[in-house]
Amino acid sequence: MNKYITTPIYYVNGEAHIGHAYTTFIADTVARYERLKGNKTYFLTGTDEHGQKIEESAKKNSKPIQEFADEISATFKNLWDELNISYSKFIRTTDEDHMVGVKKAFEVMYNKGDIYKDFYEGHYCVSCETFFPETQLIDGEFCPDCGRTTNVVKEESYFFRLSNYEDKLLKYYEDNPDFVLPCSRINEVKNFVKSGLRDLSVTRTSFTWGVKLPDFMGDDKHVMYVWLDALMNYITALGYGKDEENMEFWPASTQFVGKDILRFHAIYWPAFLMSLDLPLPKHIGVHGWWTRDGEKMSKSKGNVVAPKDVADTYGAENLRYFMLREVPFGQDGDFSQRALIDRINSELSNDLGNLLNRIIGMSGKYSDFLIDSIDVQKYHSKEIESMNKIIDSLDGFMQNLQIHRYLEELWKLFSLGNGVIQEFEPWVKMKEDKKDEALATVALVANILAKAAIMLSPAMPKTTAIIADTLNFEINNESYIELICNKKLLKLFNIKKTEPLFPRIDEPLMPEAPLQEPNKDESNKEKKEDDGLIEIGQFFETSLKVGTIIEAEIVPKSSKLLKLQVDLGEDKLRQVVAGIRKSYSVEDLIGTQACVVANLKPAKLMGMLSEGMLLAAKDDEGLSLIRPERPKKAGTPIG
Ligand code: ME8
Ligand code: MG
Repeated sequence: MNKYITTPIYYVNGEAHIGHAYTTFIADTVARYERLKGNKTYFLTGTDEHGQKIEESAKKNSKPIQEFADEISATFKNLWDELNISYSKFIRTTDEDHMVGVKKAFEVMYNKGDIYKDFYEGHYCVSCETFFPETQLIDGEFCPDCGRTTNVVKEESYFFRLSNYEDKLLKYYEDNPDFVLPCSRINEVKNFVKSGLRDLSVTRTSFTWGVKLPDFMGDDKHVMYVWLDALMNYITALGYGKDEENMEFWPASTQFVGKDILRFHAIYWPAFLMSLDLPLPKHIGVHGWWTRDGEKMSKSKGNVVAPKDVADTYGAENLRYFMLREVPFGQDGDFSQRALIDRINSELSNDLGNLLNRIIGMSGKYSDFLIDSIDVQKYHSKEIESMNKIIDSLDGFMQNLQIHRYLEELWKLFSLGNGVIQEFEPWVKMKEDKKDEALATVALVANILAKAAIMLSPAMPKTTAIIADTLNFEINNESYIELICNKKLLKLFNIKKTEPLFPRIDEPLMPEAPLQEPNKDESNKEKKEDDGLIEIGQFFETSLKVGTIIEAEIVPKSSKLLKLQVDLGEDKLRQVVAGIRKSYSVEDLIGTQACVVANLKPAKLMGMLSEGMLLAAKDDEGLSLIRPERPKKAGTPIG
């Protein structure tokens, strides 16, 4: 079967950080998994190089735009090569073939009557490369997505009839409930569509760094909107509009994106595809954000962690394992060296590394490194059954993109292996002259490790290749079929000795938090010392939201604190520990709303995690919560 896996194409306004590495690791893992299963797999990644944002970044760096794009694009490609990413193609939107394909797509949509010329008047956020109607702006000026200042734009523009696709999109979501994974994410998409889709401005005249319109239109004032240009990469990479060489891979099986760009992939992209009469991707896999101190890591903010530094220090595959395992797919996660070290020490070193060492040690002592599966079935049929059960459960998790669960289940094999050694104590059997039994146990454990290594190989390809080499086999589709599908056991073989794979790490190996946004912070400080006033942008650095208090409880031994569970419109309720007990009872609070500081660094109060703060005013008479005058949806931004 054909499989087509994609990552977003990343903007070349700055080098990759671990957020980009995360998406790419996930996509690479899925692509490798498909190949392991014998599917013909095409895996695409690349860079997004047009648009005003890139034009401005190049200017800031005093470089010609193409040269700037070439340089940054190369840093992405080199990084993926260093991180062993198995992409089939690295596309750049400045590639000639891509631009030909985009023009072709524009022509098809135009000829279909889906594109018309009009005037655009509105507000544009360069950072998000998105137009917003005035009604959606914060304070009539700021971008509702990122809080930055928007520019007023009035210009001639071509429009895509997005409004025509409202019903078709809604029907598609209904008919394909797993179009977006995790499925829960489709609701925000549906709501957006249901609130009414306006036609989309798909060309610009105010700058030139973009794909020109097709020649036949004779309108060279315009360049294409960067998102139209960018989204088309997923088909131009396959030869759309040119030789169509690899179009057999379309529709994509899974297109991975971060939640920041879900709307583009779940609304605009399907609408464009419908207009082109092409089938829609099977799944859009949406993951959450890696944060730094609770804030989204981003190139524009500068609060990033460089994947290369972490990979060089801790090992590229250890980082990769950590990222895949640490965060449930779809949710946000905070990056910390401590958490990375803990997983390396406990899961990789203790569970996996030890198992390998024990096999090497025992087989060396008992049988001169010879492993023979001949008696495994006889002494260990029950354990084989447990092993097979775990292995059989894995595929489902991968299909649902629950990669963290996949790894969690897979780790049960290592527990099983280590548990079997504990339970059957081969060293005792050796003393009791039951060598057959002892060797059967060692061989069982070697088989467990071999099968686990196959299933782990998409996530840790190099590490598992070493394990396989130690166990004298190769990980490929053939061994997958033999050992996983046909449930065969390893043949008679000699174990090779291997250095320990995961030396323990005691202390963080990199300086902590060296990467705060120095420029902006410093300039803010100066401002404050100047006149005590702040910029509006500084105000918006505080994320204020309406929260609905779902639960409240008294904190024993505290006369002041209440523990609240607050709905901020996110996947999970936030726990907020607030010092308001003297003025409010539990009953006063449940079901009411309050204003919450939503991007506060989590803190512990009396050992309890508090993930936000309620706004309140306090005078001699006591404390009063600041609440919205009329009820608002949980999570509504305040500003
Ligand atoms: O949006 N945590 O490019 P981009 C997790 N060019 N993932 C993150 C992340 C974070 N903090 N920051 C970025 C664009 N990512 C467009 C895409 S596609 C046709 C055009 C990852 O450079 C995540 O996958 O801003 C996110 O969606 C993507 O990088 C955005 O990269
Ligand atoms: Mg971005």
